[in-house]
Amino acid sequence: MIGLFDSGHGGLTIFRTLVARFPDLNFVYLGDHANAPYGNRGSQEIVELTRGGVEQLYARGCKLVMLACNTASAVACRTLQQDWLPSSDYPGRNVLGVVAPMVEAATQTPWAVTSPQYPQKFNSDTIAVFGTTRTISSGVYSEEIRKRCPKVTVLEHACPDLAGAIEVGAGENDLDAMVAKYVGQLLKRSGGIAPERAILGCTHFPLVEELFVTHLPPSTRILSQPDVVADSLEDYLARHSSYAAGTAYEGNPVLLTTGNPDHVSLSLKLFWPQGQGFERVD
Ligand code: DGL
Repeated sequence: MIGLFDSGHGGLTIFRTLVARFPDLNFVYLGDHANAPYGNRGSQEIVELTRGGVEQLYARGCKLVMLACNTASAVACRTLQQDWLPSSDYPGRNVLGVVAPMVEAATQTPWAVTSPQYPQKFNSDTIAVFGTTRTISSGVYSEEIRKRCPKVTVLEHACPDLAGAIEVGAGENDLDAMVAKYVGQLLKRSGGIAPERAILGCTHFPLVEELFVTHLPPSTRILSQPDVVADSLEDYLARHSSYAAGTAYEGNPVLLTTGNPDHVSLSLKLFWPQGQGFERVD
């Protein structure tokens, strides 16, 4: 069984893509709605909350957990993989994030290759990255992209209130105004140069992708995080088939929340219309 973890509903944009792409696999989803949003929290707090979520999913029988949250991936993934897991009571388990696949896709370079390959790819490209305050302040996208493609310009831009507004089901006009504001700010920083590519580095943002398409220049291509992550998981499972073991459940995958299930189930349809509702975990 494969677990997906997010601070709230956003990771469902990854979850629904994986469920459709891998119908023979079991997935379970945990949203830490009681503590959402993560985007403006401190690093230590995000690491602790994420570790707690991963442990909940391991306790449910998941051998592999994906952090379907850019904030948790940017801030906690490496610490959990390198410092916590090797000395924890969870042998044979792993945790993956959603930043690495996006960096691989943006640079066309495997994650394991951490220096520039010659001839240099995308020499003069500009890549825009939109994310939560914490993801952007971590600098992870810029650092990891420029390690592999040092000549690329990475413009990272924080959208502090966008994930929260999507989470609470804000209206189209309000969301449009927010996206217009953030894209406008980024284009001002770029001196009017249209970025070749844009990463929506928050799992809530695919729900407003059309608004980003409207406000970004027509030549800017958005890298779809759910599709990129699904491709990357397919490749990972081909190399680590034990994580894919087990047959699919009958019926819908389980959705868990640390929040109030009645309350969080209300906006589920917006993210995953097939969802039946959340169950509570502590
Ligand atoms: N969905 C999360 C992400 O991808 C962020 C939402 C939050 O601020 O909790 O970054």
